Amino acid sequence: MKTAVIYASSHGTAEKVAEKIQNGLGGEGISTINLKTNKNIDLSLYDNVVIGGSIHAGSVQGCVKEFCKKNMVDLLQKKIALYVCAMNEPEYEQELKGAFPEMLFNYAICKKVVGGEFNFDKMNFLERVIVKKVSGISETTEKIDHSAIDEIVAAMK
Ligand SMILES: Cc1cc2nc3c(=O)[nH]c(=O)nc-3n(C[C@H](O)[C@H](O)[C@H](O)COP(=O)(O)O)c2cc1C
Repeated sequence: MKTAVIYASSHGTAEKVAEKIQNGLGGEGISTINLKTNKNIDLSLYDNVVIGGSIHAGSVQGCVKEFCKKNMVDLLQKKIALYVCAMNEPEYEQELKGAFPEMLFNYAICKKVVGGEFNFDKMNFLERVIVKKVSGISETTEKIDHSAIDEIVAAMK
């Protein structure tokens, strides 16, 4: 069974999570695919697909939504798990639901918010100002939910 972990990441956390899922599934035969640099993905090569992104200003990257919509028919014939990275805990469930088309969300066997990171070294000036103002956090912070990642891995095994 071949698996692809297809993701978009702005500052590297969703990518880190994709690699963690890849390692958890055993590495061999598991591909990680960055949506920002791979526009044409041949889904016929995979039986299982994990799709992930990260939340900024309440929404997931547009390329994640577009990918899901464009490939909906193919995706609904595979084993699917979904994740988003996010840091605003009270909004987690809403942000997760809003990140994927409803049909795919309901179909997926596992969908998780896996926490995230504020990486101040990778943010631009405006992002730093926004994050400080909205969250009150002003230094690099890690809040990745490793048990949620483990649950995705277990579901896809
Ligand atoms: C400018 C900015 C805006 C963000 N907005 C939200 C938000 O609206 N809700 C939320 O839950 N997390 C928000 N986050 C937290 C990100 O989801 C978190 O940093 C995540 O780990 C980013 O993953 P990435 O590096 O893969 O893009 C924001 C982060 C930044 C830098």
